Amino acid sequence: MISRHPDRFRVVGLAANRSVEELAALVAEHTPDIAVLANAEVPVARSDLPPADWEFGHDAVVALAEHPDVDVVVNAVVGAAGLASTIAALRSGKRLALANKESLVAGGPLVTAAAEEGGGELVPIDSEHSAILQCLQGCDSAAVARIVLTASGGPFRTLSLHELATVTPGQALEHPTWNMGAKITIDSATLANKALEVIEAYFLYGLPYDKIHAVVHPQSIVHSFVEFVDGSVLAQMGFPTMELPILFALTYPERLADTELRTFDPVKASPLTFDEIDVERFRLFALGVEAGRAGGTMPAVFNAANETAVTLFMEGRIGFLEMGEVVETAMSRHSISAIQEVADVLEADREARDVVRKVTAAEHPTSPT
Ligand SMILES: NC(=O)c1ccc[n+]([C@@H]2O[C@H](COP(=O)([O-])OP(=O)(O)OC[C@H]3O[C@@H](n4cnc5c(N)ncnc54)[C@H](OP(=O)(O)O)[C@@H]3O)[C@@H](O)[C@H]2O)c1
Repeated sequence: MISRHPDRFRVVGLAANRSVEELAALVAEHTPDIAVLANAEVPVARSDLPPADWEFGHDAVVALAEHPDVDVVVNAVVGAAGLASTIAALRSGKRLALANKESLVAGGPLVTAAAEEGGGELVPIDSEHSAILQCLQGCDSAAVARIVLTASGGPFRTLSLHELATVTPGQALEHPTWNMGAKITIDSATLANKALEVIEAYFLYGLPYDKIHAVVHPQSIVHSFVEFVDGSVLAQMGFPTMELPILFALTYPERLADTELRTFDPVKASPLTFDEIDVERFRLFALGVEAGRAGGTMPAVFNAANETAVTLFMEGRIGFLEMGEVVETAMSRHSISAIQEVADVLEADREARDVVRKVTAAEHPTSPT
């Protein structure tokens, strides 16, 4: 998409964690000045790398996020590992186009403080939050009665609790409407993703949790709704593609013409259906919203416990429903405190990961964690 608009965008830097070959291919395509591999342990044949100023290590990722030549930082790191870059970008006054919702969930108060301190601007990439931003254009935010996030419901939307107990990582990775990375695909299957998005909306739009709702919408055509105090409802719609919310986050509030994006056809999009989220079958949704409402360090605990549970599920060490159980245990063992600095988030994060691994090791003694 970026390469379709050479007059508009120039890529200053690109970063990945350990996928050096994929990063090198993107560097060859987009010719950025800087390329960063966060994991400095990965063996790299320097002579094979395309020209760029190659940097290694987590600090280099953060330095890229605050680089003076950069206007817009797209943070699409997966997990709480993206927090330092989120804070750095906002503190140095950049526009932060944020896909990495986990950083806002884990460190919300620090992220909003960094934006206030440095004058940075937070623009969401998540399609639901982009939809809300688009519906709010030209509207007085005091006139918002509530927002309704839509959830595809994932591949297991219609399964019973009994059936959910035996689903495999392979089945969970088959998302019906979106093509995404592994962690968010599992989060979509458990609906933990929707809980993360409720917390994300709380920090982005400053609405109380009572005004943030979510419904299942299997077709993923309506990306979210905003209901106003006069009862009027606006929705943003489109066929599911991340290109549109990414482009909007880069150009907001302007709209850039892009003829490659699929045009909308209401007949092909029909029918549109909506359902309540079943919190008994999708326990992680309820736990995540509970963590958001509890506030302080609890969202960081939910996020870290969930990240660890997803890893353990993908490694075949715990079952699908056990993800909810271990996250619940981590939350029940946590004493909430206020978040004042990054160390508070890191400590809550470390504690939650530790609880999940220990509980799993105790429940499955033959399975190494
Ligand atoms: N995919 C979507 O459609 C979508 C939609 C909305 C929101 N999001 C959000 O976007 C984020 C990324 O999701 P994804 O689906 O794109 O995941 P993904 O395909 O797994 O990509 C994650 C990327 O983050 C990189 N990374 C991981 N740790 C890093 C670190 N410490 N420093 C620098 N880079 C690091 C990974 O590099 P390596 O490949 O080298 O490990 C990879 O390039 C998540 O927060 C997700 O919730 C995604």
